[in-house]
Amino acid sequence: MAEHIRVLLPEEKVDTRIKEIGEAISRDYAGRQVHLVCVLKGGSFFMCELAKRITVPVSLDFMSVSSYGGDTKSSGVVKIVKDLDESLKDKDVIVVEDIVDSGRTLNYLMEMLRDRGPRSLRLCTLLDKPERRVVDVHVDYTGFCIPDEFVVGYGLDYDQKYRNLPYIGVVEFDD
Ligand code: IMP
Ligand code: MG
Repeated sequence: MAEHIRVLLPEEKVDTRIKEIGEAISRDYAGRQVHLVCVLKGGSFFMCELAKRITVPVSLDFMSVSSYGGDTKSSGVVKIVKDLDESLKDKDVIVVEDIVDSGRTLNYLMEMLRDRGPRSLRLCTLLDKPERRVVDVHVDYTGFCIPDEFVVGYGLDYDQKYRNLPYIGVVEFDD
């Protein structure tokens, strides 16, 4: 089936908002260093743009997770496909995600990372779909709250496509 993309958040709007979040983080972490943890692959575009807008010292690390299928899916248990290279011990950590949907992934991930002894741990997401929340997750920095629609671009994919779009769009199917 053919699909097309309807623009939801144009490039300028996304860039302006990322700049604002970068400024907020720079203020909140004045005099400290932030350690950004990117959740691959979706969070990568957002993290790079965000890191460029942060004026305090920044270090970066990456991890990749996948949900277990079948019965365990509803439990929200996620499998680490690629773990972080560095320890989080005593670091001021901000997890950078593309989107919080049901909240299952982040709920699990944040608990797991908290056990690694960071000095502080916060969550920053480009997008949030609050209507879809099943599990409670505390989000510290949000780019945009969006309606319950499937979105792509800025790291988000549909069947591994469209991650490279410089804006956020909704996938619509032609009939
Ligand atoms: P959660 O555990 O349900 O919050 O799932 C979050 C993950 O599902 C995100 O990190 C995305 O990879 C994926 N996801 C959720 N909503 C969308 C969407 O609208 N477009 C693309 N991926 C999505
Ligand atoms: Mg993701």
